[in-house]
Amino acid sequence: MYKLSAPDLLIKESLKNCKKYKKIDYGNSSEKKSFMKGALMNGKKTDFPFFTHHQNSIYLDNAATTHKPQQVLDALNQFYTTVNANMHRGIYQLAETATAQFEATRVQVAHFLSAADPIEIIFTHGATAGINMVAHGWGNECIQEGDEVVVTELEHHSNFVPWQQLCIRKKAIFKIIPVTPQGLLDLSNIDEIITSKTKMVAVTQVSNAIGTQVDLEKIITRAKKVGSRVLVDGCQAVPYHSVDVKKIDCDFYVFSGHKIMGPTGVGVLYARKNVHAEFIPPFTGGGMVLQVSSEKTTFLKAPRCYEAGTPPAAQVLGLSAALSYWKTHLAKGILDHVALLTALTIEGLQKMPYVRLLGPIDQLKKSGHLVSFVVDGMHAHDVAAYLDQYGICVRAGHHCAQPLARALGYEASVRVSFYSYTSVEDVMFFLKVLETLHS
Ligand code: ALA
Repeated sequence: MYKLSAPDLLIKESLKNCKKYKKIDYGNSSEKKSFMKGALMNGKKTDFPFFTHHQNSIYLDNAATTHKPQQVLDALNQFYTTVNANMHRGIYQLAETATAQFEATRVQVAHFLSAADPIEIIFTHGATAGINMVAHGWGNECIQEGDEVVVTELEHHSNFVPWQQLCIRKKAIFKIIPVTPQGLLDLSNIDEIITSKTKMVAVTQVSNAIGTQVDLEKIITRAKKVGSRVLVDGCQAVPYHSVDVKKIDCDFYVFSGHKIMGPTGVGVLYARKNVHAEFIPPFTGGGMVLQVSSEKTTFLKAPRCYEAGTPPAAQVLGLSAALSYWKTHLAKGILDHVALLTALTIEGLQKMPYVRLLGPIDQLKKSGHLVSFVVDGMHAHDVAAYLDQYGICVRAGHHCAQPLARALGYEASVRVSFYSYTSVEDVMFFLKVLETLHS
C-alpha cells in the first residue's frame, strides 16, 4: 500500500527543477534517440495560449478535450465582433456573410472527411447529439420489434446508451461484440452477432478508454453483407488520423469539435446521401421548414432539415479554423508524434512493477495516442489527485465506458493522452512523478 501523504515539497521542487533546468537522461539507445527526434518535431506549445497562462501545467487529458490554437480563438472573436448575424434568415449583407461562412465550412468538412457531397455534412452540438439524432431520427423509423442493433464492449456511453434505449423503446435486440482480455474486439464469432436481423452496427473507430483501434473493415464488411446500416464514432480518431468516410464505407460518422482543437458545442454528423430518406429529422422547428400551416409542415432538403434552430455559428467557424490548423500543421506528423509518446510512456510504466497496463500494448506502441493503467493498491482518483499536485492533468475513472471497465475487471483507471503540444519532457516528468508514488 502507498502512503497518500501530501507530496514532499523537496521532491516536488527537485522534480520541477529537473523539468525546467536539468537535462533529463533519456539514455543512449538508438531507440530512445529516435523517440527524441520524432517527438521533437512537434510538442510545440507556442500556438496555444492556454500554456501561456499555465506554464507549469503538464496537460495529459487530450482524449477528453484539446487546447485551442490562437487561430480558433481569433475565429470565434472575429465572428462575434465583425459578423454576428443569424445565417439562413436575414437578407442583409451581414446575414449573407454569416451564411456564406457557415456553408463554406460545410464544404471544408466534406473535404476533410472525403465525403461525396457537402449535403452529407450536418452540424450538431457534439458527437453525443449526433448519435442521439440518428438513434431517434433513423432508429425510430427503421428499427422494429425483433430487429437487432449491435454495438461493441469498447463503446463509451455516448455510443452505447442511445442504442440500448432505442432497443428498449422498440423491443429490439441489443447485442454487444465482446472484448478480449487484451482489449481488442473478439471478432471470432462475428457472423453470429451480426446477422440478417441486424439493422444497425454502431462502433467506435478508436476506444477512448484504452486506445484500441478497431478493425472496422472486418465489421463493416459483415454488416454490409447482411444489409445493416453502420455508424462509426470517430471522436478519438479524427484528431489523429486522416479519415475517408467513403473508404470506411459507413452510413453515419460522428465526431466532436472540441477534441480536435475546435470549440465546445459543435460536432459533425456525416449521413450518407442514400440514408437521408430513412433519416427523419429528429428535431423540428425554425430553420428546417419549407411551409408551415395549421394542418401540416413541409421540410427543407438535407442537410438543412437536420439543423433545427439557430446553428452554433461561431463554433462552426472555430471548427473551421481548427481543421485548417490540423491540415497545415498536424496532418503529416501528429500520429507519429503521439505514438512515440505512447511508446515512451508504456516503456516507462513497464518498469514500475506496481502498474498494470490496459489495452493492446503492441498496437498502442505503434499507433496509439493514450495509455490507460491501474496502480496496485491505489484508487485511480488518488493517483490523479497526487499527480495534480505536480500540475499533471490526467483523467481517472471509468472514462464513460463502464461496460468495458467491467469486462476488463477494473473499476477505474488512470488515463494519459497526448496531442501535438505534448513533449517528451512532459512525459518524462509524468513518469518521474509517478515513480515517487512508491518512494
Ligand atoms: N469522451 C471523453 C473522454 O474520453 C469525455 O474523456
